[in-house]
Amino acid sequence: MKLFNYRKFYKKDSLSIDDVGDNPLEFFRRWFEDADNSDEIIEANAMTLATVENNAPSSRVVLLKEIKDRSLVFFTNYDSNKGRAISDNPNVCASFFWPSLERQVIFKGIAKKTDNDYSDTYFSSRPYKSQAAAIVSKQSDVIHSYEELTDRYNKLLNENKDSIFKRPRNWGGIEINIQEIEFWQGRENRLHNRVLCRLVNGKWDIQLLSP
Ligand SMILES: Cc1cc2nc3c(=O)[nH]c(=O)nc-3n(C[C@H](O)[C@H](O)[C@H](O)COP(=O)(O)O)c2cc1C
Repeated sequence: MKLFNYRKFYKKDSLSIDDVGDNPLEFFRRWFEDADNSDEIIEANAMTLATVENNAPSSRVVLLKEIKDRSLVFFTNYDSNKGRAISDNPNVCASFFWPSLERQVIFKGIAKKTDNDYSDTYFSSRPYKSQAAAIVSKQSDVIHSYEELTDRYNKLLNENKDSIFKRPRNWGGIEINIQEIEFWQGRENRLHNRVLCRLVNGKWDIQLLSP
């Protein structure tokens, strides 16, 4: 299947260094709110997380759960492929593409586990059945059948009718300390706007990039 003639034209908005200002994470919050308020975007917080283990890259989608002053947080199983990759190499890349806004944002940073209290607080805020799923799923392990998983899940729910689930130790938050952010706004004729923000000695260095 050739896709040579498959192309979209971008013309919704523009982006300058002045638009980004001197606090790129604050600016990201504003773009995030635009995405969140857009009826055409179902999960504005879905981001593609890339990791590298033994020189081999891999990526998958995870859900952003907090935007902090200099970091982003998501939750996962620490024994999953991504969890093992991060403990081997904490350099990660996380990116968002919001098609209806013609915008992309790419973060690079260093990932580490959040502390137990933070992970406990989030775990206890999840719906009961999602908690149970996190407990029974050995994420990224091979299973012999889907029933094997649902049997474990139903057994756990039956055994714990009225009790509160405790967070499994191998499940929790990952915080990405941001070192670099690139904002991309699609423009006409492929002359897109790109603004790169890099943390240098604790201060944001902000430059334009060629498309
Ligand atoms: C929209 C969407 C949201 C997802 N959110 C998460 C998430 O927040 N945490 C997570 O561990 N996996 C999430 N997943 C599943 C991951 O993409 C992936 O399949 C899983 O984490 C296993 O990845 P790994 O084997 O590379 O570790 C999500 C998938 C999709 C499509």
